[in-house]
Amino acid sequence: MSATSLRPPTMPVKKAIFPVAGLGTRFLPATKAQPKEMLPVVDKPLIQYAVEEAYAAGVREMIFVTGRHKRPIEDHFDMTFELEVALEQAGKQELLDIVRGVKPDDMECIYVRQAQALGLGHAVLCGQRLVGNEPFAILLADDLMVGNPPVLKQMVDQFAEWRASIIAVQEVPPEHTRRYGIVAGHPVNDRMLDIQRIVEKPAPEVAPSRLGVAGRYILTPGVFHEIANQPRGVGGEIQLTDGIASLLRREKVFAYRYEGRRYDCGSKEGFLEANVELALQHPALGPGFRDWIKSLPL
Ligand code: G1P
Repeated sequence: MSATSLRPPTMPVKKAIFPVAGLGTRFLPATKAQPKEMLPVVDKPLIQYAVEEAYAAGVREMIFVTGRHKRPIEDHFDMTFELEVALEQAGKQELLDIVRGVKPDDMECIYVRQAQALGLGHAVLCGQRLVGNEPFAILLADDLMVGNPPVLKQMVDQFAEWRASIIAVQEVPPEHTRRYGIVAGHPVNDRMLDIQRIVEKPAPEVAPSRLGVAGRYILTPGVFHEIANQPRGVGGEIQLTDGIASLLRREKVFAYRYEGRRYDCGSKEGFLEANVELALQHPALGPGFRDWIKSLPL
């Protein structure tokens, strides 16, 4: 079979999986009783940034793979009748628009439970029946991506052109290869790489490159079969990266160096950086916040 015949037909990316069952231990005690995805950066929870990015890329079906204690995420994307009535009666139209804008009418939110924390690959597999036989996106809300156009939109445009799985990557310092999936392959242009290898969290000495996977993927549905056949990998978990490594033997998978900035909001440093930079860019808060920062005795 030729590589072309393996290509899936061009289908728009309409569905996205948000794996949100993780415990958020890196952020304790803040995440003791609330999901890490609900931590706010300036004035919006992390998960809302990811959902807005997916929506801006044309995704309309948001599939959340949740776990215990994740109810606040469902509540956030639900209608808040009492709040809306109260804001309406008080004539607070601007706030009402903000509240209603969290879930546009043409966006659907679906929740599926990951009963056991068996890893990212396993979480993605929990969305298989809802995704069916179409290409889909995966967004890890810990990675707050700022891009213009938004990073997933850049990837959807690439997907329409290349009609193959695409993974967002960025160069990482050698001492950070243990934090990421690392890819290596042949450049096809200055942003795209035809992936030959992908390894989950290698030590710097054995890392095939310094290109680390950021938490944005567009994958063909063939990956489900590959994940389902994976033994447990790094950390005893069923790894998405291992599923993608198997997919590589059957289909082309590209790495895409996105244009934009990634904040690792799973770490305290990244979370603080995101808050400061996004506050500085905030239309209403920015100018005052900048003045305040300048006045600090640094
Ligand atoms: C996951 C993936 C890893 C990827 C990273 C991006 O790791 O397994 O390949 O580079 O997300 O944030 P995690 O951060 O969940 O440990």
